[in-house]
Amino acid sequence: MNLSDLKHVLWRRLTVLGSTGSIGVSTLSVVDYARTQFDEQAFPIEALTAQSNVDALAAQARRFRPARAVIGDALLYGRLRDLLAGTGIEVAAGDKAIVDAAAEPADVTMVAIVGAAGLAPALAAVRRGGLIALANKECVVAAGHVFLEAMRSSRAMIIPVDSEHNAAFQVLDFAQEHAVERVTLTASGGPFRSWPMERMARATPEQAVAHPNWSMGAKISVDSATLMNKGLELIEAHHLFGLPADRLDVIVHPQSIVHCLIYYADGSILAHLSAPDMRTPIAVALAWPRRMTSPSQRLDLAAVGGLSFEAADRQRFPCLALAEDCLRAGGAAPTVLNAANEIAVQAFLHGQIGFMDICGVAEQTLAHLQPQRPGRDLESVLAIDADARRAASTAILRLAA
Ligand SMILES: NC(=O)c1ccc[n+]([C@@H]2O[C@H](COP(=O)([O-])OP(=O)(O)OC[C@H]3O[C@@H](n4cnc5c(N)ncnc54)[C@H](OP(=O)(O)O)[C@@H]3O)[C@@H](O)[C@H]2O)c1
Repeated sequence: MNLSDLKHVLWRRLTVLGSTGSIGVSTLSVVDYARTQFDEQAFPIEALTAQSNVDALAAQARRFRPARAVIGDALLYGRLRDLLAGTGIEVAAGDKAIVDAAAEPADVTMVAIVGAAGLAPALAAVRRGGLIALANKECVVAAGHVFLEAMRSSRAMIIPVDSEHNAAFQVLDFAQEHAVERVTLTASGGPFRSWPMERMARATPEQAVAHPNWSMGAKISVDSATLMNKGLELIEAHHLFGLPADRLDVIVHPQSIVHCLIYYADGSILAHLSAPDMRTPIAVALAWPRRMTSPSQRLDLAAVGGLSFEAADRQRFPCLALAEDCLRAGGAAPTVLNAANEIAVQAFLHGQIGFMDICGVAEQTLAHLQPQRPGRDLESVLAIDADARRAASTAILRLAA
């Protein structure tokens, strides 16, 4: 990379929505690396946001000096203000303040809030324009049409950060999409890849969040254990790459080194490989369409030795099959599925339901609320999402009774 290319990337103004989470912290570690290696002013930060982890947000703000720091929980405004007193950093609190921060000018916005809570801020960033480094898959799953419509009518460019979609984004020949027969996303299989169903039924939250290859937030870790994560990713890929359900599939690859495979009409398969380290797709997104040096692990294939692949078992992992059904059904099904899954995962993490009940809650919620038309604007998506959350909570109460 020559110096002028590097400056072009390093001077990008960055907002990190969800800076205290796993992706947020990894993003700031890429920024830290760029500041240490290349330019101490690299990636000037417009805003950092978090929901309740006020101490971590304040520590990040003191270190990375954003123009503003925003905490979602309005009750924590006073504490954040006190922790940042004398720094000159603007402090704000509440859901609306996060959306406002997302709408402020920035060259790159990392959307790393977990769950459908990321939807309104992500849409605000898309409407403002610029590069949108999109880690939050739930907002595309819940509001695919709204999201794509906002993207078409703005000057935003979405760079997927999810490793499989980031890989596909790099390998897919967008000019010849008709020549793409199939896109296959890989799944590690999660911590219960080889567990029988009876054992999975007794799995604890601690076991479910102990992912063999990736260190991630609790919600996506549980989604990886149920394979719901892969199902949500198929829906995400459908929207981001415009491919129908029958040209998208999943293969289990326990090493998490190949992230996606693109099958072309001439028989070629193009794959993307990297170590399982989210700092790679984050660096791709921050520098796109250029490339920057990142602190990610480098892959030593000789040390890895072998790569293996196996079919996904939809009987033991019914969440994958359910998400595929929702992808094929379309309408409001993905919105309902996403909301029900968020509620069910929280209930599992709080010990209210068993691991295998997560799928049951989502199924009951879908049965209760279908058929519905998809939300055509943010308000209607949020209304369907709220209905689904209520129905899922009722299903959980029934299970717990
Ligand atoms: N982690 C990964 O390796 C990975 C890989 C691919 C895709 N993703 C996707 O990236 C997103 C983030 O994942 P993660 O693992 O980084 O999650 P995480 O560790 O749980 O972090 C979530 C972030 O969102 C904030 N947040 C939580 N609830 C919020 C709300 N209601 N309003 C505003 N902010 C809120 C959290 O703030 P507090 O800390 O204050 O709670 C935190 O900063 C998810 O959509 C996930 O599917 C993650």
